[in-house]
Amino acid sequence: MHQVHAQLRTWMEQAGMSVSIDAAGNLRGRYAGIAPAPPLYIGSHLDTVPHAGAFDGVLGVVLGIALVECLEQRRLKFPIEVLGFSDEEGARFGTAFLGSRALAGSLDPATLETCDADGVSIAEAIRAFGLDPAGIPEARAGEAAGYLEFHIEQGPLLESLGGPLAAVEKIVGQSRLEFVFEGHANHAGTTPLQFRRDALAAAAEWIVAVEAEPAMAPVGLVATVGRFEVAPGAANVIPATARASLDVRHPDDDVRHEAVRRLSDGARQIAARRSLSVSVRPQMDQPAVAMDPGWTEKLEHSITAAGFRAHRMSSGAGHDAMILAPQMPAAMLFLRSPGGISHHPDETVLPEDVAAALAVGLRFLEEL
Ligand code: HGY
Ligand code: MN
Ligand code: MN
Repeated sequence: MHQVHAQLRTWMEQAGMSVSIDAAGNLRGRYAGIAPAPPLYIGSHLDTVPHAGAFDGVLGVVLGIALVECLEQRRLKFPIEVLGFSDEEGARFGTAFLGSRALAGSLDPATLETCDADGVSIAEAIRAFGLDPAGIPEARAGEAAGYLEFHIEQGPLLESLGGPLAAVEKIVGQSRLEFVFEGHANHAGTTPLQFRRDALAAAAEWIVAVEAEPAMAPVGLVATVGRFEVAPGAANVIPATARASLDVRHPDDDVRHEAVRRLSDGARQIAARRSLSVSVRPQMDQPAVAMDPGWTEKLEHSITAAGFRAHRMSSGAGHDAMILAPQMPAAMLFLRSPGGISHHPDETVLPEDVAAALAVGLRFLEEL
């Protein structure tokens, strides 16, 4: 991340921005306006997931820098601040949106005590990065004009429509939890089935139920077990512990909460039947968030003014825009994802779509 900050700092300074890094690890490039005024924030996240593609998040930061570069030192009525958020994915600590929550002022200080798999807390990781978590309150944004985020769609819709761009209307809500099934290790060769308390078999039965849940729920529900660990992890030992992540999403928060309740009850029933215990640890409950209707309309006008068809859609992926939307007008522009692939090395974008996004961004600045 230090290398990414150094590279982006160079590009930001070349485009006429003054650069800083706040206590939450957000990279911030400030481009002054004609006079002091509430800034327009443009940005996305710089972190990503293991074995990811090269565009999720960082494309939105680089497009923000490119937009300022296109101004060629021309000054607008308002300053622009390009943001490279830290830890939007939550890949290391399970919680997410650390950087954008610091900017929005909605970061619960207790979150800083969350630990990674090695027992390192977020606060310790921030200090190890060379920053002081005590300064996080200063990262909070003051009055703002609003927030614009460019991001790849990360799904197949725009490609199926044959369109390069879409204005995002709403971002679905997201629940993240950790389920730990606790059984009892024993010898794989000498323990008959009726004496086993196999944590892996219990978790496997539950994961099949997780996969079946969306078929029984209202349309649009998705539920995923993405991370799974077994202990002690020897081929000839009946597993004592199985630790599984759960990610549940839906546009309607009640539907999402009902699915989480059903899947938690299901885990407890499976554990009880198999004489195991199961613990359910909520990590995040992020409500669905609508983008600002006025700004989304401005974005649509900018898309058509730039000569493209303006599609509108919801986002199944979470974004920093959902954290800032309660504090300021927020809008998102999606770029087509060829192959609908993301969170994978094959994730890509078309250069002509990036050029289209830049043209729309310039029109949007005029609209503002
Ligand atoms: O998980 C997501 O929705 C996004 O990649 N943060
Ligand atoms: Mn992502
Ligand atoms: Mn992203």
